[in-house]
Amino acid sequence: MNKHTPLPATPRSVDEITSGRRMRRMRKADWSRRLVQENRLSVDDLIWPIFIIDGENRREPIAAMPGVERLSIDLAVREVEEAARLGIPAIATFPNVDLSLRDATGSRLLDPDNLINRATRAFKKAVPQIGIITDVALDPFTSHGHDGILRDGIILNDETVAQIAAGAVLQAEAGSDIIAPSDMMDGRIGAIRDALDRAGHQDVAIMSYATKFASAFYGPYREAIGTSGLLKGDKKTYYIDPANTDEALRETEQDLAEGADMVMVKPGMPYLDIIRRLKDSFAMPTFAYQVSGEYSSIEAAAANGWIDGERAMMESLLAFKRAGCDGILPYFAPRAARLLAGE
Ligand code: PBG
Repeated sequence: MNKHTPLPATPRSVDEITSGRRMRRMRKADWSRRLVQENRLSVDDLIWPIFIIDGENRREPIAAMPGVERLSIDLAVREVEEAARLGIPAIATFPNVDLSLRDATGSRLLDPDNLINRATRAFKKAVPQIGIITDVALDPFTSHGHDGILRDGIILNDETVAQIAAGAVLQAEAGSDIIAPSDMMDGRIGAIRDALDRAGHQDVAIMSYATKFASAFYGPYREAIGTSGLLKGDKKTYYIDPANTDEALRETEQDLAEGADMVMVKPGMPYLDIIRRLKDSFAMPTFAYQVSGEYSSIEAAAANGWIDGERAMMESLLAFKRAGCDGILPYFAPRAARLLAGE
């Protein structure tokens, strides 16, 4: 009890306490809630990440990501057609490369006919109206699962940058619209921009994985592309420490100075504060990757009946809009798009 201010003789009414302000007035009905709703999710906000495998008519479930499959290019083309029908603006492709094709330097990134480039060509031909975003990191192609060239236990920054810049040109040649480097090497954005421009790809954009954190939430993805059994050690010498936010700001500033057209935060939900800070600081197209571990957490809880999976999905996607995102990369994209379309 506060001994300095005596209690009023009679308890104050709620109207006296709030000075007549009542937040619930606008919440009282569906129509008024819709009227004052500040943020909305639309299909235009969605980029769909998909997993590709070699072969034909192949469809493999991913145990750690229930509801997500690896697809051979022919089957993936149909899914991409369906994504376009739903109005999803773009897809992001991730290859699960045959183990026999992986090596210490990830040299297959430089094969114009590697899995990711063949997929891009097929999608561009069959579904020219959808945007194609390709990751140019080395991890699907290295025998050790790291995003860089590894020598004597060290990730070699500059050699890696030269290789991914060359790989980016091949991806652009195959028809990629946006190059999205997820490797976090220093100088990669500027090197990719130079290489693209010299090859005549001025129109190909760069979405920088500007703030990629060394996160536990990538676990299921590593199963999806088959790097979990290969990876030794961790990625802390190139991804950002989850404890740091000023560093994420400096990293983004640098990527923008080097020529990034769009920036991404990854993972998404645990890093909404970073999204808000980037949007407020740079006013650039800002995206978030709702990564595999976020997807699987929601799916696992829903499968156990612990949460309503559909509502949790939509709430999680809306949260990205509220935090300042222009768009999101969720594995939920087609499911969310169908719900938004009332299907
Ligand atoms: C690596 C890469 C990762 C993801 C996409 N590309 C992280 C990693 O394996 O370290 C994660 C995506 C996800 O978890 O959904 N270049």
